[in-house]
Amino acid sequence: MSARQVRSVAVIGAGYVGLPTAATLAHFGHSVVLAERERSRLAALRVGRMPIVEVGLDDLVAEGVAAGRLTFTDSAVDAVTGAEFVFLCVATPQSADGSADLSHVESAAKEIASHLEPGAIVVNKSTVPVGSASMVEQVIGRPDITVVSNPEFLREGTAVLDSLKPDRIVVGADDARAAAKVGELFSSTSAPLIVTDTTTSETIKYASNAFLATKLSFVNALAGLCEEVGADARDVLLGLGYDKRIGFEFLRPGPGWGGSCLPKDTRALLHTASEVGYDFSLLAGAIASNDGQLSRVVGKVEAACGGSVDGATLAVWGLTFKANTDDRRDSPSLQVVHRLVELGATVQAFDPTVDPEADVPEDLRGLELRGDPYEAAVRARALVVLTEWDEFRWLDFARVLAVMAEPSIVDARNLLDPAAVRRMGFRYTGIGRR
Ligand code: UDX
Repeated sequence: MSARQVRSVAVIGAGYVGLPTAATLAHFGHSVVLAERERSRLAALRVGRMPIVEVGLDDLVAEGVAAGRLTFTDSAVDAVTGAEFVFLCVATPQSADGSADLSHVESAAKEIASHLEPGAIVVNKSTVPVGSASMVEQVIGRPDITVVSNPEFLREGTAVLDSLKPDRIVVGADDARAAAKVGELFSSTSAPLIVTDTTTSETIKYASNAFLATKLSFVNALAGLCEEVGADARDVLLGLGYDKRIGFEFLRPGPGWGGSCLPKDTRALLHTASEVGYDFSLLAGAIASNDGQLSRVVGKVEAACGGSVDGATLAVWGLTFKANTDDRRDSPSLQVVHRLVELGATVQAFDPTVDPEADVPEDLRGLELRGDPYEAAVRARALVVLTEWDEFRWLDFARVLAVMAEPSIVDARNLLDPAAVRRMGFRYTGIGRR
């Protein structure tokens, strides 16, 4: 990258979005100051420890720090001083009514407003509803400052890869020159650049997640139908995936979709639709179908225990919302587990990212946490696989069988080989699989 393309960038918020974004922009050659107000997070970063689990993130951060292109501060005001671009990467949790809570975006904008360099470009990377760029512009209240929407499409667990090699870069601005400047920050990637207005850009982000969620609801519902008609969902989905218009991505049935984005963003889009009086019943159906999927999985566990889990000891493998992350926000695995506990089961749970010796976090109260998958299986009436951690495939199932009270597996991720575990003497139930 030539020297004249090096830009000074501030990133506000060192979370799942801000940290990979800052490290990637530093990798592209820009000079990046990352602001994080949470002391423990900042302290960890300063000694090279990553506050989140992300493959390759430690190396990318270390590279930026060693090159002097990535520095950290606890002050958003310090970060924006001297910055030509300011990326807002703060959290937008869900409010009680399903809409996105913009209070962090608003307070960050207020805090930096009078400290921004003349003509600085504020880039909104947090997931925000349609109309938020103009809200931020109003909060900042300066005619020389443009607010640009540049949504992120990072998946947890592969965020580094996704930000180094994005499928596309979307930039929404009502000022075409500002949009072009933001696009140039990413010129080292060969990703297609979509330049549009802010409203369209903000809609693209929600539309992507709502589409993925709807695709998964379809896949899960289809797997349910396969069970009823006696078809094998695995082969049905193979047959679908080879059609290039459908593709293999997001075609794996599971206990329902979750995580910090899909549930929140689908509800927020539905909320936006209802605000403008638009009947988006298809999306409402996808959300309802996802709740139904959790119930179907609970029903499978009940069936595996002879009709009821009341008083039963169950082994659970996996609590995070998907593999390769330590995130349990809106985790379908955890929702299934809590329903099982409500129905009277004792749940012995193992997850590679949960330390049973540490203080029990609030979302895991009521569970018996175990330090390895075999311990979790001891005296269990059924083993329930809820997150697709690859290591579960390679365990010693003879040892699992020996410690369980009943040889029963409910595999809510279709992770295991049904024929292999059946040969060993297990009863096996997957999702849509014979
Ligand atoms: C998602 C989007 O993919 C990303 O573009 C956006 O920026 C943030 O939200 P993430 O939350 O990390 O990313 O999770 P993702 O990998 O998309 O999975 C979402 C949910 O769908 C998980 O619960 C996952 O287990 C489930 N899923 C995914 C399936 O059940 N089957 C699949 O085939 C794929």
